[in-house]
Amino acid sequence: MQEFITSLGSVAAIIGAQWGDEGKGKAIDILAENFDVVARACGGANAGHTIVVNGKKHVFRLLPSGCLHQKIQVYLGSGMVIHLPTLLEEIGLLKDAGVSILDRLHVAPNAHIVFEFHKAIDGALEEQKGKNAIGTTKRGIGPAYTDKAARTGLRMEALRWSMKDIRPWLMEKATAVKAMYGVTINIDDECRLFEEAQKVITPRVVKNGPDTLNEWRSAGKKILVEGAQATLLDIDHGTYPYVTSSQTTVAGALQGLGMPPNCLNSCIGVAKAYCTRVGAGTFLCEADEAAATRLRERGGEYGSVTKRPRRCGWLYVPDLKYSAMINGFDCWNITKLDVLDTEETIPVGTGLDGSGKVIWEKMPGWKTSTVGITDFKKLPKQAQDFILFIGQKTGIPVRLIGTGQGREQMIVR
Ligand code: GDP
Ligand code: IMO
Ligand code: MG
Repeated sequence: MQEFITSLGSVAAIIGAQWGDEGKGKAIDILAENFDVVARACGGANAGHTIVVNGKKHVFRLLPSGCLHQKIQVYLGSGMVIHLPTLLEEIGLLKDAGVSILDRLHVAPNAHIVFEFHKAIDGALEEQKGKNAIGTTKRGIGPAYTDKAARTGLRMEALRWSMKDIRPWLMEKATAVKAMYGVTINIDDECRLFEEAQKVITPRVVKNGPDTLNEWRSAGKKILVEGAQATLLDIDHGTYPYVTSSQTTVAGALQGLGMPPNCLNSCIGVAKAYCTRVGAGTFLCEADEAAATRLRERGGEYGSVTKRPRRCGWLYVPDLKYSAMINGFDCWNITKLDVLDTEETIPVGTGLDGSGKVIWEKMPGWKTSTVGITDFKKLPKQAQDFILFIGQKTGIPVRLIGTGQGREQMIVR
């Protein structure tokens, strides 16, 4: 492990290669012990990053998954959209679990605020779209980024404003939102939630986000960047319009943090040993119902935010290569290998034939438990071959392999 950690350098990023929920949180939690700062860059409470430590499950939505390590500084970047009640809730849950976070939390003043009305608009737009709905998490992400792009949003720096300024802003917004979406803003509710957050979070909003991060970097602090969502959900490079509203690639993460691209030493791509997707949109390698049900039940493939059953299917090599190309992955973390333990054969899509049909390669299954294995050599031969196949087909080495939910259930090679 130590050799692997050293190879990551002092600024490393972890980025999802599929449609999210690859297991980024677990990798972050494991690696964070060796870093001084863990930073979320983009997205909001649409993320759900689950980690399991000593049998206890923690789900992170806004806070980075590395924050269980008591010494690490926790940073929320300018590219994020932050729902304040969710942030307070997360801080409270951690406190209940004996983890204090506030004194090491640093929030970029430029991150945007997600209000309740953003969530209501998200829901209304999805309803309007009917059968063409995106299948969003209804966490207000699209509408908050819409406000950001239209330059009509409110940023975390507004926590320093007095309520005398916030209320008129909300009143003006209410008129526009009613006219445009037919959504009514409950101004009293919004003000109450805002004030509650103001008391706790305002002191944690830094003066200048990029200054803070880059000063740490110059002082030799090691920074771990936690990607949220994933490459195929990227607003520019994903399966538009069935994507999220942020930039989910490593370039997007650096932009969201205000860190220069040339400071990045390494980037780990995270992909499941199979594939899942929540929400609508193309999914070339979606499995038939029987196989999808097996994967879903064995892999616990239900959304950590919305509890929706995830659509399940198989790896598609061109998608992995595409994500690797965009992000410049140095290595893979292939997660949830153990979920395939009972499969007779494991189909992998390797391309399309002349009529646009997926070309399948069928890898033999291993039909034995890999749960908790931490040594690559102890994996059954077929599982080793499957991992080597991914490395060979994508041209990128698989260095981390997940064999269970627990923090310790990871192979490093
Ligand atoms: P993220 O959004 O990328 O952080 O991933 P999620 O937390 O949404 O979903 C991944 C799920 O798989 C979580 O429930 C993890 O606890 C679980 N998980 C992660 N790695 C492994 C693994 O190697 N094996 C198994 N069985 N579960 C894993
Ligand atoms: P993590 O970080 C999986 C999906 C939604 C929907 C689309 C748009 O846990 O991997 P949004 O609410 O963002 O407007 O929804 O994007 N989506 C995710 N799917 N994991 C995520 O995050 C996701 N964040 C957004 O399901 O299809
Ligand atoms: Mg998730």
